[in-house]
Amino acid sequence: MPAKVAIIGGGGSVGATAAYAILLRKCASEIVLVDLDEAKCKAQVLDLSDAAFLSDTTIRFGTPKEAGQCDIVVITAGAKQRPGETRVDLIDRNKSILESVINSMKPFKKETVLLLVSNPVDVLTFIAQKLSGLPESQVLGSGTFLDSVRLRVELADVLNVAETAVHAYVLGEHGDSQFVAWSAASVGNTPLLNFPAIQKLNRDELANKVKNKAYAIIEAKGATYFGIGAVTALICEAIILDLRHVRPLSHFIPELGVCLSIPAVLGARGVHQTLKPPLTKDEEALLQQSAAEMKKAINKINL
Ligand code: 2OP
Repeated sequence: MPAKVAIIGGGGSVGATAAYAILLRKCASEIVLVDLDEAKCKAQVLDLSDAAFLSDTTIRFGTPKEAGQCDIVVITAGAKQRPGETRVDLIDRNKSILESVINSMKPFKKETVLLLVSNPVDVLTFIAQKLSGLPESQVLGSGTFLDSVRLRVELADVLNVAETAVHAYVLGEHGDSQFVAWSAASVGNTPLLNFPAIQKLNRDELANKVKNKAYAIIEAKGATYFGIGAVTALICEAIILDLRHVRPLSHFIPELGVCLSIPAVLGARGVHQTLKPPLTKDEEALLQQSAAEMKKAINKINL
């Protein structure tokens, strides 16, 4: 089925890299790049069109109104973290940008899935659910999918197994209050914590390395975009092909009253089901703490 993906902020590094990754996955029939900086965005379209022979996807510049009629709208627009800034520090700047972006796209096609990528992604997902008028299940954020990929790669390296055999998730905020659900993690069917190498490992140190990876990249090169671009493409592909992947995505969790990441079934039209793993008392407390941080951030803004 032909699928159209719009990328708001297509002139920026995250938007253009996501477009490139979507193109390589060959899952969309058309990618529409939208950006206030028309000249830069059109240049990204020209540059990407040179790589479009790698797939059957067409790529073009478009307006916000056209984006609102696409099957998936990826929002990458907004200020990015400067070295030393947290994701939540971006909230005021990126909330206003998100409001004007959503208003300029409305009304959305009723099946549109809105995928938030800009930070702080959990708060922006919550705001987008309120402003877009779309069903909650169709508004989601990339959340801790990227952090979980970072974690799985580290664990696969420690255990010398394929990264796809590691089922381990970073949960909560895509930010400083995230945590690893160690007790629920497994390799194949074997609990992760049964492995002597994992028992010997300084797990807090590894979790911090994962949590701080974006800071390290931003400090050295100013921005992250390859990882988030790849993750964005996989999310779009799962929606377009109705793959029912289980991914830690930011979505509304009624019992917590906020959006944050818990594994969810992802397919056509967004989130189908939340699959909260059994957590220990301590992990449950970390989840509540992360939700409280998100509430605090939401309470600081006028909605
Ligand atoms: C990342 O984790 C900065 O949120 C972005 O790469």
